[in-house]
Amino acid sequence: MITAQAVVYSQHGEPKDVLKTQTYEIDDENLASNQIVVKTLGAPVNPSDINQIQGVYPSKPEKTTELGTSEPSAPCGNEGLFEVIKVGSGVSDFKVGDWAIPANVNFGTWRTHALASEEQFIQVPNPEQSKTRGKPNGLTINQGATISVNPLTAYLMLTHYVKLIPGKDWFIQNGGNSAVGKYAIQISKLLGFNSLSVIRDRPNLDELVSELKALGADQVITEEQNASKEFGATIKSWVKETGGEIKLALNCIGGKNSTGIARKLANNGLMLTYGGMSFQPVILPTSLHIFKNITSSGFWVTQLLKNNEDLKKSTLNQIVDWYEDGKLRDAKSIETKFEAGGEKQLHELYIEGVTNSSKGKQLITF
Ligand SMILES: NC(=O)c1ccc[n+]([C@@H]2O[C@H](COP(=O)([O-])OP(=O)(O)OC[C@H]3O[C@@H](n4cnc5c(N)ncnc54)[C@H](OP(=O)(O)O)[C@@H]3O)[C@@H](O)[C@H]2O)c1
Repeated sequence: MITAQAVVYSQHGEPKDVLKTQTYEIDDENLASNQIVVKTLGAPVNPSDINQIQGVYPSKPEKTTELGTSEPSAPCGNEGLFEVIKVGSGVSDFKVGDWAIPANVNFGTWRTHALASEEQFIQVPNPEQSKTRGKPNGLTINQGATISVNPLTAYLMLTHYVKLIPGKDWFIQNGGNSAVGKYAIQISKLLGFNSLSVIRDRPNLDELVSELKALGADQVITEEQNASKEFGATIKSWVKETGGEIKLALNCIGGKNSTGIARKLANNGLMLTYGGMSFQPVILPTSLHIFKNITSSGFWVTQLLKNNEDLKKSTLNQIVDWYEDGKLRDAKSIETKFEAGGEKQLHELYIEGVTNSSKGKQLITF
């Protein structure tokens, strides 16, 4: 028997008020033939995890008494990296020691161990396997535990909707220094697209611009520059130089920041909105629709990949390859290790993680 723990909630609310640690037993001596037992290596706190607990996110885990809770409860967490520690007799896709990530959202990754069927997981290479295949790098726990959302989002937004011509075409994005934005900068460089990233002004602007340029950013400008008519001529000259067009805008802010990037799109361009950090609605001038035929659309990685396992696997493989080849850098997380029997219970650690999320992505390792 394995004594496992999971963070659960029975009522929606603020995480500090509703999260609990549930302890439960996993009978690892009597697995069904297709079952595997995994132990958690790391699971982050994402904005969507918090929104799920608050009850304001459209996709939610089911509340059940499966983990032995007295009232129906839902497990928290959507992303995570796991190591397979036991396999049932009929399991063909996994062996002990493999690394795995949940195939779908709502798995409940804020836990120490899980019993699942093999179909609920997708294998990713562990460092030993990468080495055997002659790769210079293996995945780190942070890379594996945060692979399913942000890198996939950036890659799919850049490749799945608009055909950008390598060497010529551009995309523009606001929140250029966000985690997704940094992946978009790197991935566009790897694919040969030109990037124009808009960020907020700040005292250490030069430092941030240098950081983004080191990741491969072509041009980085401030919101004020993007809003200035005079500066528009400079942007036009950059685009003219490559002989392409700004065909795609990625919006994670909304409000006037979304108007600003939409205005830079070429005729028939597309703006994909994937976040609303300013809590302001997307604002698009009528003229952009009528005279430039601009399209505005939403992007939600959960929905796009829900029934598209092949797309998820091919995208994941690409990201894994780039990590293994040292071509892609992960967005760093602030890591805290959970010690079973330690001072803090698992839910207390995650509540701290939620509180500290404003300081950077929080990753609990096990
Ligand atoms: N739809 C999807 O499938 C999907 C997938 C992944 C992520 N997302 C969403 O995408 C968004 C970004 O995620 P992330 O993890 O990349 O975030 P992150 O790393 O925390 O970055 C947040 C960004 O938003 C900017 N920002 C915050 N408040 C702002 C405001 N009021 N006005 C202007 N800029 C503001 C920050 O700029 P400063 O540095 O200037 O503060 C930073 O660039 C989130 O809303 C997340 O939920 C959606």
